[in-house]
Amino acid sequence: MYNITLIPGDGIGPEVTEALLHVLEIMDIELDYTLAYAGDACYNKTGTTIPDETLSKAKKADATLFGSVTTVPGHKSAIISLRNELDLYANLRPVKSYQGINCLFDDLDFVIVRENTEGLYSGIEGYTKDGATALRVITRSASERICKFAFKHAEKTGRNKVTAVHKANVLKKTDGIFRESFYKIADEFPNIGTDENYVDAAAMFLITKPQDFEVIVTTNLFGDILSDEGAGLVGGLGMVPSANIGDNNALFEPVHGSAPDIAGLGISNPSAMILSAVMMLDYLGEHYEAKKLENALLDVICEGKVLTPDLGGSSKTMEMAQKISDKLRIS
Ligand code: NAI
Ligand code: MG
Repeated sequence: MYNITLIPGDGIGPEVTEALLHVLEIMDIELDYTLAYAGDACYNKTGTTIPDETLSKAKKADATLFGSVTTVPGHKSAIISLRNELDLYANLRPVKSYQGINCLFDDLDFVIVRENTEGLYSGIEGYTKDGATALRVITRSASERICKFAFKHAEKTGRNKVTAVHKANVLKKTDGIFRESFYKIADEFPNIGTDENYVDAAAMFLITKPQDFEVIVTTNLFGDILSDEGAGLVGGLGMVPSANIGDNNALFEPVHGSAPDIAGLGISNPSAMILSAVMMLDYLGEHYEAKKLENALLDVICEGKVLTPDLGGSSKTMEMAQKISDKLRIS
């Protein structure tokens, strides 16, 4: 039995969460859910986007599932608070082409490892006489820890190369430290190759030769931008999951946001949320169940009969969930 904290959030967050729960229900795994609140609706009800109670429920859980939230301007970001409070320093974002999805490339399988606690997301901003500034915080300790995570992940998943993405030619001090940390840690992994790209070139290589990437390690904002670009390579935001991992806690969420343009229509693609749960099951050591869930989803996608509109179909979120559930029942 695993204790899972569930934060459905806003917009399509609750829809994709409902679809996931429907699918998990028939699996041979006991999950005990604790519901928690965050985001815009939570703010309207309680005056805060991220109540202490939610943070403590996430800290106590074996893992947390997070749908998506709508940002409340001028208030704390729920997801950034969770990442910081739980010290979820590694944001793992796989980019994988699946058969049956209209991908720009059909042979991609790389992962972006994004530093999740500092960089331009430090939250240190201030107004100046004529505008404002944001502080880009890069420390040796956080850089070494994320690079170590990336190399270990390469080792664990049989990948041969880690590429550091930075802009050390312009951000000489901050990304200078990130780059130095990368090569310092690389020395501990003599069997894994290294490469480096400036972020602007990396953005182009992701389009021209993405097959060359195996593991990308980068700072917070660059990782955020490149992972949405990665999503664009493999069928869009409805397809890409993520894991936020620390030494004591982990949180799993789709890369997408609350998608207000389609919220309430019941047509959001549940795949990113379901694939996030696949990552969670792997994290919990339930590799067999993880594979079973991923395969059921992939079968439905491959058949191409019950797909949401973003995948070229005309089905509803819950119809797709039902089809995946049917596959699991007969598997
Ligand atoms: P978004 O990811 O919500 O949507 C971008 C586009 O992708 C939209 O056209 C949307 O319809 C589509 N899309 C996203 N997920 C989809 C799915 N599962 N199925 C089908 N189509 C999907 O990004 P956007 O519009 O920039 O942000 C909306 C809100 O979400 C904002 O308040 C933003 O701050 C917040 N946000 C929250 C995140 C989180 O909770 N971790 C992450 C990103 C944005
Ligand atoms: Mg993003």
